[in-house]
Amino acid sequence: MAKTIIAIETSCDETAVAIIRANTEHITVLSHSILSQAKLHEEFGGVFPNLAKREHAKALPLLIKTTLRESGLLGERGNVVLDESPLKKILKKDDILCEGLMPLLKNIKKPDIDAIAVTAGPGLEPALWVGFNAARALAIAWHVPFYPMNHMEGHIAAALMSPVKEREDEYMITLPPLPALAILISGGHTEFDLMRVIGSYERVGETLDDAVGEAYDKVARLMGLPYPGGPKIAVLAEEARTRNIQPPVSLPRPMLSAKNLSMSFSGLKTAVRYAIEKIAPLTEKNRIGIAREFEDAVRDVLIKKTHAAIEETSTESLIVSGGVSANTYLRNAFGRLANEHGIPLLLPDQHLSTDNALMIAAALALRFTTQSVKPTDPADPNLNVNGTLTLV
Ligand code: KG4
Ligand code: ZN
Repeated sequence: MAKTIIAIETSCDETAVAIIRANTEHITVLSHSILSQAKLHEEFGGVFPNLAKREHAKALPLLIKTTLRESGLLGERGNVVLDESPLKKILKKDDILCEGLMPLLKNIKKPDIDAIAVTAGPGLEPALWVGFNAARALAIAWHVPFYPMNHMEGHIAAALMSPVKEREDEYMITLPPLPALAILISGGHTEFDLMRVIGSYERVGETLDDAVGEAYDKVARLMGLPYPGGPKIAVLAEEARTRNIQPPVSLPRPMLSAKNLSMSFSGLKTAVRYAIEKIAPLTEKNRIGIAREFEDAVRDVLIKKTHAAIEETSTESLIVSGGVSANTYLRNAFGRLANEHGIPLLLPDQHLSTDNALMIAAALALRFTTQSVKPTDPADPNLNVNGTLTLV
């Protein structure tokens, strides 16, 4: 039976809301909005948690309203009175969110929605709480089942969504051949998760220090480029390849010879810093040359480690997701790797690689498909945001 799901995502610097209609293998996007705070965080060179929290609280009520309106589900409450006290209990620690959300809940009637999904972690804790508490309040006000979801599982779900005939609002859910090996590469995570059944994951390797997206962002900052630096470095590296500009230095490929699936990216960033200091002043040509060499070093580490992980786990499919999977150069490299191993590669649409709420809704739809989910009581005072995948 098809279900209508609203999902909220506030784990980092994107405030996002999505509404989908999903049955076992098909998703129709009714509405899908993302508001990025990246510009506000630019001067910090990364995301500043308390600023993220405030901005989420300011933006979320209006974003929920617009998303409902765009999906055709927004209706006036009329004279049905709302019991405000359980909602105020949940929202009491966040005045900004409370001020925005209470009038909305008082004025609109319960939309035709069957489930509420929200990112419960991993992510920046102050930011997570905003979406989490807003979702709890909606669930209580509308008497709709409430599902805390894992952000990384959302990234995996994004890779399982294939667009139907180039339409942006229709997707098929493709269940990958199992076991499936997921490499999740984002601003906060770089990890291998082996999925033997949908919804259960075994961590088989991860970075020991910085995430790969974080390395992109830090290197960009060293080069004087604003946050988020990943896409900007990618453009410079592509320019170097097109113009055949050679790197002025060579950079290390950390932990390549280690016989395990651990990775490390902080040394690579430090090597870029030394290189920039050594060749100062940084000319335009050297800047794009370093971007090229940095991206090649990242590619070499990711591909070699993923190659080892494929062999070690005898996986039947490869999933690559997370913000860094938007990178075309890396996508192509993973494509060649999967080909060599004769296994399918599942990648998200490029616009679904970075954080969004559609992937959180899709993660719940996937759980409904495999019947591996139970709702949580949104009024439970002991509820906590938490960052663990259901690890086996
Ligand atoms: O998944 P995501 O949106 O947020 C987290 O959960 O962390 O990932 C954001 C990260 C940032 O570090 C950003 O610089 C990186 O993804 N990123 C890219 C590209 N697009 C985004 N890195 C390399 N190439 C890209 N095209
Ligand atoms: Zn993410």
